[in-house]
Amino acid sequence: MSGINYSEKIPNNVNLANDRTLQRALEHWQPHFLDWWKGMGPTDFQGADVYLRTAVSVDADGWAQYGAVKMPDYRWGIFLADPVANRTIGFGDAMGQPVWQQVPGEYRSTLRRLIVTQGDTEPASVEQQRLLGHTCPSLYDLRNLFQVNVEEGRHLWAMVYLLHAYFGRDGREEAEELLARHSGDADKPRILTTFNEPISDWLSFYCFTYFTDRDGKYQLKSLAESGFDPLSRTCRFMLTEEAHHMFVGETGIGRVVKRTLEVMKELGTDDPGRIRAHGAVDLPLLQKYLNFWCSSSLDLFGNEISSNSAANFANGLKGRPDESQYDDHVLREKLFTMRTPQGEESVPMLNALNEVMRESYLKDCEIGLKRWNRQIERAGHAFRLTLPATNFRRSIGAWAGLPVSPDGKLIPKEEYEKRLYDWIPSEADKAFVHSLMHKVAEPGKMAGWVAPPERGINNLPVDYEYVKLH
Ligand SMILES: [Fe+2]
Ligand SMILES: [Fe+2]
Repeated sequence: MSGINYSEKIPNNVNLANDRTLQRALEHWQPHFLDWWKGMGPTDFQGADVYLRTAVSVDADGWAQYGAVKMPDYRWGIFLADPVANRTIGFGDAMGQPVWQQVPGEYRSTLRRLIVTQGDTEPASVEQQRLLGHTCPSLYDLRNLFQVNVEEGRHLWAMVYLLHAYFGRDGREEAEELLARHSGDADKPRILTTFNEPISDWLSFYCFTYFTDRDGKYQLKSLAESGFDPLSRTCRFMLTEEAHHMFVGETGIGRVVKRTLEVMKELGTDDPGRIRAHGAVDLPLLQKYLNFWCSSSLDLFGNEISSNSAANFANGLKGRPDESQYDDHVLREKLFTMRTPQGEESVPMLNALNEVMRESYLKDCEIGLKRWNRQIERAGHAFRLTLPATNFRRSIGAWAGLPVSPDGKLIPKEEYEKRLYDWIPSEADKAFVHSLMHKVAEPGKMAGWVAPPERGINNLPVDYEYVKLH
């Protein structure tokens, strides 16, 4: 079951050849996907040889194979984690009952919406990042960008497979729509706001892969708990790919910190102006980027109080990430103390699950910060990077539009407006970051604002020619 069949037009481990109708429908969608990739994917690099990994099995160890590939020839396909024998629903009112191999009629539209919303983010991020190749800080980074891009393309395949296989005609229509909406499009934007923000510089790319791909990880983890078994198996395999995206973010920001500390040492100063004049990113500027992307990603978890997430949990559709680590899987009796602008409120735990997820997400975000702060501490500086409070700069939920400082305090509106660009990048900050973005495409060479990585990909040296541009 784990092995992937690459002899077919669409690589898969779901026995696609046994279902001719489904196979034909997906083979019909495949050229539409390729057109989308060529039109909306990375610009001007379709002919380059990129050192990419491709899934060859869904086993935990050794699932990937590495080699030079032209991106349009990448073998996108359908890979599900192996089924767990006798798996039962792990939470909600149907806890302990066998998982579903087909979509229960009463949950059809809800499940379809969950899958479409997840699926929409995958091609959206490819579109957001399509111009980045032109300003890559190194060939190593360029390769990582393209690896992330082809895998987000594969995640789209993962969701489209579910739509085609389990949702009939509606599903096929949704699959077409996933290629018709575009990030930032005035008429047909992507579903979620964060996925309509352009990512036009590499500092934003590192922050996006750190914060927004991590939101993806949390969404996938909660869908991996689903009672709809094909969705669970799909998401379980996607999570193994997602780990690399967050690695790119965490090590990317770590390398920016490292380079900044080198420049600070060289110049003997922490003056942002002098650090910038030397072509590096001062730490307060990095903090603004963290504030921007973290707060934008926090909105993705939705309203603090949500009857939809309560119903999705109670019905066994969407659990909490790592559901098994909790004691109570039904939550009919539990309460949650919620901080709202009106003060503390006690709400049924079932209705507070978005907030529960948001909190565990932020805990996961702390891991990188600890690492980066250790670098700063070791270099002898008092500055520390922090995460903004969950209620800072929110546009969804109880705190939406309220003037809250990054440390979580409600402040007068005038003060908030006056200080906002002390907290998130101003136009001048963005212009400076953009001024650093120049393509460095010689093997082993690095842009001046970021340190080289500690090691290369798949045990290759850092100066390996990861992308052959021709
Ligand atoms: Fe993804
Ligand atoms: Fe991702």
